[in-house]
Amino acid sequence: MDDRKIGQVADLLQRAVSVVAFTGAGISAESGVPTFRDNNGLWEGYDPMKVATPEGFKEDPRTVWRFYHKRRQQAQQVKPNPAHLALAELESIRNNFLIITQNIDGLHQQAGSKNVIELHGSLFKARCTKCSCQLDLNSCSQEILSDEPSCPKCNSLLRPAVVWFYEPLPEEEFSAAMESADNCDLMFSIGTSAEVHPAASFVWQAKANGAVIVEINPKPTAASQIADISFRIAAGEILPKIVEQYKSIGQ
Ligand code: OAD
Ligand code: ZN
Repeated sequence: MDDRKIGQVADLLQRAVSVVAFTGAGISAESGVPTFRDNNGLWEGYDPMKVATPEGFKEDPRTVWRFYHKRRQQAQQVKPNPAHLALAELESIRNNFLIITQNIDGLHQQAGSKNVIELHGSLFKARCTKCSCQLDLNSCSQEILSDEPSCPKCNSLLRPAVVWFYEPLPEEEFSAAMESADNCDLMFSIGTSAEVHPAASFVWQAKANGAVIVEINPKPTAASQIADISFRIAAGEILPKIVEQYKSIGQ
């Protein structure tokens, strides 16, 4: 059953001019990163309203920073899985391939993908709460990695450069994602419950503009109703097969 669909998707990849992969927490599940809405979700006993809202940060920045330092350290210990690697390979063998990710774990980039829009920011970046200063946490001093880090330029409090509940998506990333969703002719929706908007709306946007939607998720999701082809299987099991098939038909 899946073999026929793999062939179909490889053909679609061959015909498509522009392809987008929209990814969520599920693509990192096989790397050992917990998802949000499955059992023992990523919040791990933390109240999301305390550690992932602007209000929570205002009230208790130390707890919020501790949470994000911990998540960053966890992300540093995991490795990209075959799903991330297959998407990175796809980028290297075809033109016009872009990943729009809701993940902040950096695993697509670690796998070698370069064309990645991080809609929800990154665990590896911080930004100033006052000025426009942005910092790469991979290459900054130990001092910055404290529980109440301050901006090297203006000394104000730094915050994790991630999108929290009640916050808009970063403008540049939002418009770039919107444009790609409008213009692609094939969109993969991979490892996402497609429940969190506006991020998830890119799938509907692509569909409305005529793209074929291919969903990869062991469970049905909000986007299943508009998917043209659905694979009910782990991303790491099917994506390498799709890419192999695409390569074998000569791209
Ligand atoms: P969710 O936790 O909502 O959904 C994860 C999805 O991955 C579920 O539908 C699972 O069935 C699926 N899944 C699990 N294992 C998988 C595997 N091996 N292969 C493929 N799929 C698998 O995570 P997201 O959709 O990413 O936002 O959540 C979206 C946003 O909600 C997050 O970015 C986060 C959260 O609030 C912010 O933090 C702003
Ligand atoms: Zn500053």
